[in-house]
Amino acid sequence: MLKPFFVQIALLALSGTAFAFPSHMSLAGLTREQLDQVVPTLTFVPPPPPPGPLNDTSAKLVNDPAHPWMPLQPGDIRGVCPGLNTLASHGYLPRNGIVTPNQIISAVQDGFNMDNTIARFLAYGTFLVDGNVITNEMSIGSKTPATGPDPPSPAIVGGLDTHAVFEGDASMTRGDFFFGNNHDFNETLFDQFVDFSNRFGAGKYNLTVAGELRFQRIQQSIATNPNFTFVSPRYFTAFGESAFPIDFFIDGRNNDGQLDLDVARGFFQDSRFPDGFFRANHSVTGEGADQVFAAHPIQPGRNVGGVNNYVLDPTSADFSTPCLLYTNFVNQTIVGLYPDPTGDLRTALNFYLNMFFEAFEVSEGAGAGCTQLFPYGQ
Ligand code: HEM
Ligand SMILES: *[C@@H]1O[C@H](CO)[C@@H](O)[C@H](O)[C@H]1NC(C)=O
Ligand SMILES: *[C@@H]1O[C@H](CO)[C@@H](O)[C@H](O)[C@H]1NC(C)=O
Ligand SMILES: *[C@@H]1O[C@H](CO)[C@@H](O)[C@H](O)[C@H]1NC(C)=O
Ligand SMILES: *[C@@H]1O[C@H](CO)[C@@H](O)[C@H](O)[C@H]1NC(C)=O
Ligand SMILES: *[C@@H]1O[C@H](CO)[C@@H](O)[C@H](O)[C@H]1NC(C)=O
Ligand SMILES: *[C@@H]1O[C@H](CO)[C@@H](O)[C@H](O)[C@H]1NC(C)=O
Repeated sequence: MLKPFFVQIALLALSGTAFAFPSHMSLAGLTREQLDQVVPTLTFVPPPPPPGPLNDTSAKLVNDPAHPWMPLQPGDIRGVCPGLNTLASHGYLPRNGIVTPNQIISAVQDGFNMDNTIARFLAYGTFLVDGNVITNEMSIGSKTPATGPDPPSPAIVGGLDTHAVFEGDASMTRGDFFFGNNHDFNETLFDQFVDFSNRFGAGKYNLTVAGELRFQRIQQSIATNPNFTFVSPRYFTAFGESAFPIDFFIDGRNNDGQLDLDVARGFFQDSRFPDGFFRANHSVTGEGADQVFAAHPIQPGRNVGGVNNYVLDPTSADFSTPCLLYTNFVNQTIVGLYPDPTGDLRTALNFYLNMFFEAFEVSEGAGAGCTQLFPYGQ
């Protein structure tokens, strides 16, 4: 059942030592010399079109006999996203944590009823940065949680845990990269999640709690993390992810907007659905992010020169400039990671950039008027 960890091996000289090049490792940021060694060993085969929207978006039992929770095996990878971790631990995604974009889209729809366009936007956005665009593979994290050894080069095979684009600071249950562990469940931070739920939600996590906890995590990072950065796209996902537990972790038969804290711990810590869990009763687009933002409308920015000096960044996209999210992502993030792609790498990047734009155009609503960019030609 487990796929071999290293499916395709190429040798690559890095820092003077040869290391195994896993087929799910992102090619982003490699030097020209490294790319020239690796890219010719890989062949891009365009994947089938992404799954379409669910035809039946009603609530249904998802913790079913076909998808039992199973404990981690050595080498199974989990990471920053409790949603994808849970889907992997229940077999909606490959249990080893190495996935394709189509598998992500299919799993988040089937297991959580996530809306098709949001699913495509997140899957392709993260994949372009954190996945291997030629082999179509990505890891949903960097290691087996807690007990597991880091893969050969954890700083590089970061998968979804890779810091600075989608993985970012001020997460609810994971620490900032600056403090050394941005991916494992952190009990101290979860205790704060519980404390805020007690104070603002009478013992449940709801959108009122989400607004206060989001603000608290931003204030904590401003006060303690000299490298704190909070710009697009992390800026957007931070508000969305604060609403996700309410959107997705509440049983679809009684979604009153109040999340039980034991259920929350199950998802965040153990990657586990509660017994008998039903997914949401409609296709979920991330409702509530606007309310989380409205509670404390922080603008994009970063600490400059040390803690307690949060300086706004007017060049970052914010909620009033959706096309800038797309433009900055393509023209700065992607072109920065892949300045001069050639061969199959260029073909694959163009393929996935187009997939990303198609999702963005629809999912962002206002994004419908954005102009598609072709940094590597058409
Ligand atoms: C469509 C595919 C998805 C991708 C690619 C994705 C990716 C990510 C990433 C990269 C993060 C880390 C951001 C950070 O630094 O905190 C994250 C966090 C999170 N994700 Fe996902 N996600 C997806 C779907 C989902 C779904 C369906 C759910 C809920 C069922 C979910 C729930 C969350 C939550 C609650 C967090 C915040 C964790 C925290 O702040 O401690 N995600 N996700
Ligand atoms: C929805 O139904 C159509 C027509 O039967 C089918 O082609 C499509 O694959 C279905 N979508 C999903 C996500 O199952
Ligand atoms: C923090 O930022 C400094 C300056 O940009 C950089 O040199 C350092 O590597 C960063 N540290 C971490 C842990 O991100
Ligand atoms: C968890 O987070 C707290 C608060 O930020 C931090 O002090 C602690 O070192 C973290 N624990 C681990 C194991 O990373
Ligand atoms: C959250 O719970 C508190 C306490 O019960 C309540 O006052 C508040 O209205 C709730 N907020 C939402 C959005 O449900
Ligand atoms: C889903 O559940 C909510 C809350 O119980 C209800 O208001 C809504 O009408 C339901 N939606 C569907 C499509 O059944
Ligand atoms: C994106 O970058 C290209 C090449 O540098 C430039 O011609 C184009 O104007 C940029 N597009 C936007 C919208 O900034």
